[in-house]
Amino acid sequence: MKKQCVLVSGGAGYIGSHTTVELIEAGYDVVIVDNLSNSEIGAVESVRRITGVDIPFEQVDCCDREAFRKVFEKYEFDSVIHFAASKAVGESVQKPLLYYGNNLTSFMNVVGLMHEFGRQNVVFSSSCTVYGEPDKQPVTEQTPRKPATSPYGNTKQTCEDILRDTLKAYPEMKGIALRYFNPIGAHPSAQIGELPRGVPQNLVPYVTQTAAGLRECLSIFGDDYPTPDGSCIRDYIDVTDLAKAHVAAIGRMVGDKNKENYEIFNIGTGRGVSVLELVNKFEEVNGVKVNHKIAPRREGDIIAIWADPSLANNELGWKAERTLDETLKSAWEWEKHLRGIK
Ligand code: NAD
Ligand code: WQD
Repeated sequence: MKKQCVLVSGGAGYIGSHTTVELIEAGYDVVIVDNLSNSEIGAVESVRRITGVDIPFEQVDCCDREAFRKVFEKYEFDSVIHFAASKAVGESVQKPLLYYGNNLTSFMNVVGLMHEFGRQNVVFSSSCTVYGEPDKQPVTEQTPRKPATSPYGNTKQTCEDILRDTLKAYPEMKGIALRYFNPIGAHPSAQIGELPRGVPQNLVPYVTQTAAGLRECLSIFGDDYPTPDGSCIRDYIDVTDLAKAHVAAIGRMVGDKNKENYEIFNIGTGRGVSVLELVNKFEEVNGVKVNHKIAPRREGDIIAIWADPSLANNELGWKAERTLDETLKSAWEWEKHLRGIK
C-alpha cells in the first residue's frame, strides 16, 4: 500500500520538527514547508539524521500563494499539519499587522489550496490561550472561549472559526484543532529542541539559559497570586508527547474514525504545576542551580490554567506519557548540547 504523505508547514520549528520525527516513525512520508523566519535549516538536517530519511524540504512562505501552490502541484499529500505562524504574544501586541498578516494569510492559503486541490485532512495548531482566564479548572473543550487579550490569541480564535465555517461548507474535508497547553522539553536524542531568538519570553528556555550561565537571574513573575505557593499555574506538556498527538489526529482522520468533520482536542497532561514548583524540580532533577528572584507580576498573565485531556485520551487514544522529571531533563540536555556544556 502506498504510504500516506503529510505536508508539515512550519516543520523546521520547535513543535513541527518533533512532529516530523514522530510521523516518520509512525510510517508516514513527510514534506516540510518553512520560510525559516523563526528557525534554521539545521533543524531539518537534524530531523533527517534522527530518522535516517531524506525528508523533502521546501523553503516557501505560506503567505506566498503562488509559491505555495507549486508545492501542492509537486507533492501528493492528503493531509496537512499547519504549524507555520508567528507565536510571540508580547510581540503581537507591538506588531499586530505582522501577526494578523502572517497567521491568517498563511492559514487561509493552506485551507484554500487544500480545497482547490482536493486534499482532505488538516490539523491546526491552536492554543490554550483561546480560553483566556478560565472561571473553572480544569478546562474542557466546552469551556467558553474568552475574548482574546492579544492579537496572537485573536489569530488562534479566528483560525479556529475559519476552519469551523470552512468545514461546514465543505463536508468532504476534515479538520482537527489541537489546543496545546504549554509545550516544553526536547527530543530524547537532544538533537532538536526549542531555539528561541534573543531573550526568551517563555519560562523553560529562560530557566535553561540561566542554568547555562547565559542569563544572570530568572525573574519569577509574581508570588502573590491566589494559588497554593503564590506563583502561576500551567499545564506543561512534553513536546514529544505533543508531537504524538498530531500523529493520532492524522490517524483518526485518515482512518475515518472522526465523529464530526471538525473536532477540537485539548492537548495537555491534566496536571497543574506552579512556576516555583517547576524551577525547584528543574534544579533537583538536573543537579544545577537556577538563580532566581521574585519579580512583579507580568502584565497579561493568567493566574492558572490546566487541561482536562480526557477527550483526547478517549477519542484520539493519546495520553501524555513522559514525566515532568524526564521532560525537564531533556530541556537541560538540549541546552547543554546547544552550548557545548558537558
Ligand atoms: P516555531 O516558531 O518554532 O515554529 C513555527 C515555524 O513556522 C518556524 O519554523 C517558522 O520559521 C515557520 N513559519 C512562520 N511563518 C511562516 C510562513 N508564513 N511560512 C512558512 N513558514 C513559516 O513555533 P512552535 O513553538 O513550533 O509553534 C508551532 C505552532 O504551534 C504555531 O502555530 C504556534 O502558534 C502554535 N503553538 C505554540 C505554542 C508554544 O508555546 N510553543 C503553544 C500553543 C500553540
Ligand atoms: C509560563 C509561566 C509566567 C517567564 C505562552 C502563551 C500561550 C502559549 C504558551 C502559544 C507564567 C512565568 C515566564 C519568566 C516567569 N503559546 N514566567 N518568568 O505565558 O503560560 O503562555 O506560551 O500559543 O499562548 O501566552 O507561557 O512560558 O511565557 O510562562 O515567571 O521569565 O512562567 O509568568 O506564569 P504562558 P510562559
